[in-house]
Amino acid sequence: MISKKLEDAINYQINRELYSEYYYLSMASYLNSIGLSGFENFFLVQVEEERFHAMKMYNFLNEKGGRVTLQTIEAPKTEFKSPVEIFELAYEHEKLVSGLINGLMDLAIKENDHAAKNHLNWFVEEQVEEEASMETILNKLKLIGGEGQGLLMIDNELAQRIFTPPAK
Ligand code: FEO
Repeated sequence: MISKKLEDAINYQINRELYSEYYYLSMASYLNSIGLSGFENFFLVQVEEERFHAMKMYNFLNEKGGRVTLQTIEAPKTEFKSPVEIFELAYEHEKLVSGLINGLMDLAIKENDHAAKNHLNWFVEEQVEEEASMETILNKLKLIGGEGQGLLMIDNELAQRIFTPPAK
């Protein structure tokens, strides 16, 4: 059993996770177009992370006897100025997602839904990592002035990222 309010809110969150996937795929495509394949790889892995988040919400809602209903995903931004701008946007986006997860947790507490609280705890922790990962790279990019040899070094570093499904 799950309340209608929580069901609606989780459906909205599934939509936001899928939008995040779409948004980061758009960033990956831009980074490919300017030849930064390591940066592109970072966002392609992030795309997989976001799909994992969406599916974790999907599975939870189904297990709780709710109904997943998919909604429109709006077109993401497609033009960017630089890797610095991309990481500024990605960091802002993760902060926004953290706010949504906190709102969901507030609702689960209000509804006294312990299973939902337990499920959302995972996301609360995950968002700490999500924000930190974007902020760390943004700070490195700012340190090197966003260009030159330093940019290529970061590109090489980001080429190493691989998707490891988070522990359930
Ligand atoms: Fe699904 Fe990047 O938070």
